[in-house]
Amino acid sequence: MELTKRFSSGGQDVLAVDRLSFAVVPGEAYGLLGANGAGKTTTLRMILGLLEPTSGYAEVDGFRTSESPDEVKSRIGMVSTSAGLYQWLTPRELLLFFADVYGLDDDTAQKSLDRFSQLFDLTPFIDRRCASLSTGQKQRVNLARSMIHDPPVLLLDEPTRGLDVVGSKVIFDYIAAAKKQGKSVIVSTHRLDEAERFCDRFGLLHRGRLMHEGTLPELQSATGCTSLTEMFLQSMPLCGQGEDAA
Ligand SMILES: Nc1ncnc2c1ncn2[C@@H]1O[C@H](COP(=O)(O)OP(=O)(O)OP(=O)(O)O)[C@@H](O)[C@H]1O
Ligand SMILES: [Mg+2]
Repeated sequence: MELTKRFSSGGQDVLAVDRLSFAVVPGEAYGLLGANGAGKTTTLRMILGLLEPTSGYAEVDGFRTSESPDEVKSRIGMVSTSAGLYQWLTPRELLLFFADVYGLDDDTAQKSLDRFSQLFDLTPFIDRRCASLSTGQKQRVNLARSMIHDPPVLLLDEPTRGLDVVGSKVIFDYIAAAKKQGKSVIVSTHRLDEAERFCDRFGLLHRGRLMHEGTLPELQSATGCTSLTEMFLQSMPLCGQGEDAA
């Protein structure tokens, strides 16, 4: 709520996220959309607790990130493109390692490993070192790693980046199944046509501010645009004019 992040680097002050408030209910996929630098990744990192907000707070399942970081982390699976893999481990070793970190017993860990290696098609390279994997293969391992503890909240930062058509479809199917299980999903993506299909509601970010929020029909009537792409190209830069507080 009222999440704000100000960065100071190289003598410059950047207001990356500006009093951002939104809520996601169980079973809902929320699309956090915005141009490069709009503040999407910064927002997700503050929710998980990787970055401390300058002001405001994030709350997950009744726990504030700043006050109960462990409770929050155990409830979140975050997929981020910048997340590095442990290059010298194999996907099997890596996934079992994270299952252990999350406190899964051996039997549950093995079942999770089997489930996700099948779901994300990891079997062909599960015993190769992560360093030798292609971008898309690494991303699949990243996804499995973030979800191995079956968290109720998924934060997906460009989850389909680097994935081919089949890999992307696996993600969308997974999000659909996660919604049915009552998980809350926040996804940031530049693939607006796909976001349109699987997100229930959207928040349009422009320079850290939430310019519009709602379902697709609500956004259509608010902006006069038919597609998210059109909203992006037309209304967001216009909305942003004169709004820059930084
Ligand atoms: N560690 C940092 N230090 C200084 N500025 C930062 C830092 N991290 C992000 N920023 C700035 O904050 C703003 C928001 O960045 P952020 O990564 O959240 O954008 P984004 O919406 O995820 O963009 P993209 O679509 O390119 O991933 C940008 O202006 C960025 O340069
Ligand atoms: Mg980003």
